[in-house]
Amino acid sequence: MDVFKCIKTRRSVRKYLDKELPWDLVSKVIDAGRLAPSAGNLQNWKFIAVLDKARRIKVAEACLQQTWMSKAPVHIVVVSEPKVSERYYGTRGDRLYSVQNCAVAAQNMLLRAHDLGLGACWVGAFDERMLGKAVRLPEGVRAQIVITLGFPAEKVAEPAKYPLENVTYFNGWRGKIRDVPHYMGYHSIKVQHGLHKGKAAIKKQSKKLAKKTKEVAEKIKESIKEKNKKRQDLKKFKKIHGLKK
Ligand SMILES: Cc1cc2nc3c(=O)[nH]c(=O)nc-3n(C[C@H](O)[C@H](O)[C@H](O)COP(=O)(O)O)c2cc1C
Repeated sequence: MDVFKCIKTRRSVRKYLDKELPWDLVSKVIDAGRLAPSAGNLQNWKFIAVLDKARRIKVAEACLQQTWMSKAPVHIVVVSEPKVSERYYGTRGDRLYSVQNCAVAAQNMLLRAHDLGLGACWVGAFDERMLGKAVRLPEGVRAQIVITLGFPAEKVAEPAKYPLENVTYFNGWRGKIRDVPHYMGYHSIKVQHGLHKGKAAIKKQSKKLAKKTKEVAEKIKESIKEKNKKRQDLKKFKKIHGLKK
């Protein structure tokens, strides 16, 4: 699938078919996580595939009772080893990079899952201690994200997202530009409104045109009918009066 199409059509899926997920697909998803960028390429992450049902129930409980999660045939718990990045980058490595590394790996996995026709959801609401216990995390290893994975059993509608011009500033905080349509093109709501108006006007005009064409066609039909009738009448008249054809 085209990358942007994949990004645009991905949804958080929370309903899954009661069907096992072949390991081949799970490994493909994890592989996409493995290839993500990481600060200093330290890759201080691990991906714990939870396949066992009883353990998935424990994971769902740790995720503040999000019971829908246990219906997913696979959970991937993304965990970080913050000490590894702390060694190189200090507090920033510990607090920030280790989290960001896992986040970018998780997004890679969500996109790969979607590309493979699977449903997935990022779960960030959990009791860290409970989740750590559920997947036996040792001291110093932190759970960052749980990804639920399975064959989708729902078609999720496109959630509302802010338009490009609402989330883009130029050259600094709150920096705006005058020529929004030029910079934002089709993504600009102004342009989209313009296009929408244009489309509506074309629709209205083509409706009018269709009506007019129908009327003219009707008139032509009527006049042909009338001509034919006159011809028939003339024929009849000539016949009655023995006139030549
Ligand atoms: C940091 C983070 C935490 C999230 N935590 C949860 C969660 O605990 N439970 C859940 O159902 N969805 C969770 N989500 C998914 C969001 O609800 C979802 O991404 C958002 O509603 C937008 O929908 P979309 O993913 O289909 O674009 C989380 C997403 C992120 C990025």
